[in-house]
Amino acid sequence: MTTAPDADLQSEVPAAVDPAAQPAAAEAQPATPEAPNKTPQSNTANIDPDNIHSQRWQSYLKDCREIINLVEPLEVAGRIIKVTGLVMVATGIKMPIGGACYIPLQDGGRVEAEVVGFDGENLLLMPQTAVEGVVPGAKVFSMDVTDTLPKPQFGRPPRRRAQDRARHFPVGDGLLGRVVDAAGIPLDGLGPIVTDITAPLSGRVINPLMRAPIEETMDVGVRAINAMLTVGRGQRLGLFAGSGVGKSVLLGMMARYTTADVIVVGLIGERGREVQEFIEQILGPEGLARSVVVAAPADVSALMRLQGASYATTIAERFRQQGKNVLLIMDSLTRYAMAQREIALAIGEPPATKGYPPSVFAKLPALVERTGNGARGEGSITAFYTVLTEGDDQQDPIADSARAILDGHIVLNRTLAESGHYPAIDIEQSISRAMHNITSSEHQQQARLLKQLYSRYLRNQDLIAVGAYQAGADPMLDIAIKKRDQINDFLQQDIHECADMQFSLQHLAQVVS
Ligand SMILES: Nc1ncnc2c1ncn2[C@@H]1O[C@H](COP(=O)(O)OP(=O)(O)OP(=O)(O)O)[C@@H](O)[C@H]1O
Ligand SMILES: [Mg+2]
Repeated sequence: MTTAPDADLQSEVPAAVDPAAQPAAAEAQPATPEAPNKTPQSNTANIDPDNIHSQRWQSYLKDCREIINLVEPLEVAGRIIKVTGLVMVATGIKMPIGGACYIPLQDGGRVEAEVVGFDGENLLLMPQTAVEGVVPGAKVFSMDVTDTLPKPQFGRPPRRRAQDRARHFPVGDGLLGRVVDAAGIPLDGLGPIVTDITAPLSGRVINPLMRAPIEETMDVGVRAINAMLTVGRGQRLGLFAGSGVGKSVLLGMMARYTTADVIVVGLIGERGREVQEFIEQILGPEGLARSVVVAAPADVSALMRLQGASYATTIAERFRQQGKNVLLIMDSLTRYAMAQREIALAIGEPPATKGYPPSVFAKLPALVERTGNGARGEGSITAFYTVLTEGDDQQDPIADSARAILDGHIVLNRTLAESGHYPAIDIEQSISRAMHNITSSEHQQQARLLKQLYSRYLRNQDLIAVGAYQAGADPMLDIAIKKRDQINDFLQQDIHECADMQFSLQHLAQVVS
């Protein structure tokens, strides 16, 4: 506590501190005739310079204010009591699931973490970065405290959802042409992100009846997709393939040639080398100019990989709110599921299907459902998610689950890729479930015919190769053999070639005529 400024004032100090006593003090100080409206409590401009008593009081109060300003606000801290593998256990602090906190390190740095569960009174924390430097008993501070304190001038803040009170990340036009990490920190060395708009990572659930239906086509600039697997605005598709069959190249082509207003690319859990390759060689400067790339490669923590996917979706949602048509590319959904598996197993969830805990299968639709069309009048998010299917494993639980929650799947075939047929889209196995709603019946007929010819040829390929097929035995197969090269030319497309919707449809009509 402080001492009074003057020894002879000490007896009066308690009266000033007690607010109830103040009116009496005011009355004890009669107003001077020159300034009848002045009171002793008025600000310094109204102080009578001749009133030594008032001056002493003012100086004493000034000292008090300075001392109050020096006091640090009380902040609740917890303590780390256990760190095993990926999970830290903290006690002595109460925070909601999804809340963000940090642990100051002795070297001045800090480890940021998120609450992913609790066990009795203890919180289970998942760090966003490496945990090197955390000592037993290290303090844990909530990062949300200051935001939730009531602001004195406005009373208590309005009741808001826990998600809205969570940390916010930059979104909006300031991100165009930029490459950021899962927390919105620029990775491209082009200076800070300039935007005033921020958003929390979890979107608002859209009332399914309010969503605009898929009614228009989305030109992705790839002939085989535009013509055979037409994509609707607001549709969500999976790109199913093993490694090295041309997923990244195909996604890059779509990003460069699409008519979408904005492209958001989430590179989740892929190799770090691939991030640079994708941006520099596949996307290129003209593709990057209207894109936002969120990169959370394999070497960042599982939490950051999850966050990267949510952040990319959040950025896309914001553009959709502005009425834009967004193309969201997520490479890959499988790595997202794997990150969730890592976290869920670490906090003790039991594994269910092929080592994947149940929460994984809840997280996938939660992420995917955020994309698609917004309410009427808003824009759209057309999304492509890559799904890894190693060794043509059709039983892979993630591929199975993804197939069920997406509005179509494009399968890339290794045999085609190996024979140099790029993009290696297997048109027999692929399907766009929105196609029949958004295309003309003539277009659908042509696409069906091309598919039949293509399949017919494939079925009889071996017979034809050994010369066992007699021309004329099957008229349909005769046409397929005749059009074989034309069909293959139609389905293949070079990396640097753009095929817009109109051109794709003309070409299709020409092939099947
Ligand atoms: N349209 C194309 N034209 C010519 N070559 C292509 C085409 N698409 C893919 N390729 C070839 O396929 C290779 C592998 O493609 P890409 O890197 O896209 O595969 P990926 O499926 O993304 O692989 P990973 O699983 O390793 O990420 C490329 O380096 C390129 O040589
Ligand atoms: Mg790739």
